[in-house]
Amino acid sequence: MTAELSSIIDFIRYGASAFGRAGLTFGHSFDNALDESTQLVLHALHLPHDIGPAYGQARLTAEEKTAVLALFKRRIDERIPACYLTGEAWFAGLNFKSDARALVPRSPIAELIESGFEPWLGGRPVESALDLCTGSGCIAIAMAHYNPEWRVDGVDISDDALSLAAENKVRLCADNCHLIKSDLFTGLSGKVYDLIVTNPPYVTNDETDALPKEYAHEPDLGLRAGDDGLDFALKILRDAPAHLSEHGLLICEVGESERHLMQLLPEVPFAWVEFKVGQMGIFAIDRNDILAHHERISQLAAQR
Ligand SMILES: C[S@@+](CC[C@H](N)C(=O)[O-])C[C@H]1O[C@@H](n2cnc3c(N)ncnc32)[C@H](O)[C@@H]1O
Repeated sequence: MTAELSSIIDFIRYGASAFGRAGLTFGHSFDNALDESTQLVLHALHLPHDIGPAYGQARLTAEEKTAVLALFKRRIDERIPACYLTGEAWFAGLNFKSDARALVPRSPIAELIESGFEPWLGGRPVESALDLCTGSGCIAIAMAHYNPEWRVDGVDISDDALSLAAENKVRLCADNCHLIKSDLFTGLSGKVYDLIVTNPPYVTNDETDALPKEYAHEPDLGLRAGDDGLDFALKILRDAPAHLSEHGLLICEVGESERHLMQLLPEVPFAWVEFKVGQMGIFAIDRNDILAHHERISQLAAQR
């Protein structure tokens, strides 16, 4: 059947149809079958991602066809996220190495980094920033890249994640980014930041167990966050004020667990960020607003 396929466009179209037929999930970096198919075809052919449309008609050799079809087969049979098959992912316009040591970079926080965190920073100066739960290092390294005058720390508890982040730091020449192993803030004693950004684990236990097979290739440590998905976010809210400068800002992703957070802390003035596609479960909050509700936040965090 595949003998009828000839050009780059043929294979991209074929892959997208096969992915759709197999019922794949596209939650990792690309959100649709055509983009994933394009990513895999161009990777197998060693072509750049921004190749001109005229090359779509170029025909593949027999060897190239075999390589493309082998990638499609692994994507379908093993449900491996496309970024793990290609070994790379784009985040905030930068090309990161991506493999099973850390989650595939995909946080909407990329959009905030590219827009300089405005209007949330409101022009306040930043000298130091923290990316808590850095995984592949994507948020820390992108912040460091776009703000060369900032000192950025990227923190994770996982040695695997930190080894991938270290490779990405070198890959993207992020000399102003430093990687630290720490269980949340415990290893950051005395460190204070003007901006703390975090995409911690926030998937509930039930949701983690029910996730499509693609997610099983990612470290469970990066996803699972207790019965309501807030085990990490509440501890971060409790401990962030001690590590924020007086006018510091916390930006935290909680995804679908936003509604649980609003139920637990309806009185806290979380500012939910609006993205081009709407709300994505990411809030911004000033240090002083956290402190005003610190007692209640600490009570809830202590139950975790
Ligand atoms: C949702 S992933 C986010 C990774 C990365 N920031 C991104 O956006 O792709 C959460 C990360 O938190 C890390 N993590 C889990 N528990 C942690 C803890 N107690 N302290 C620090 N990092 C932790 C995991 O290893 C994982 O890399």
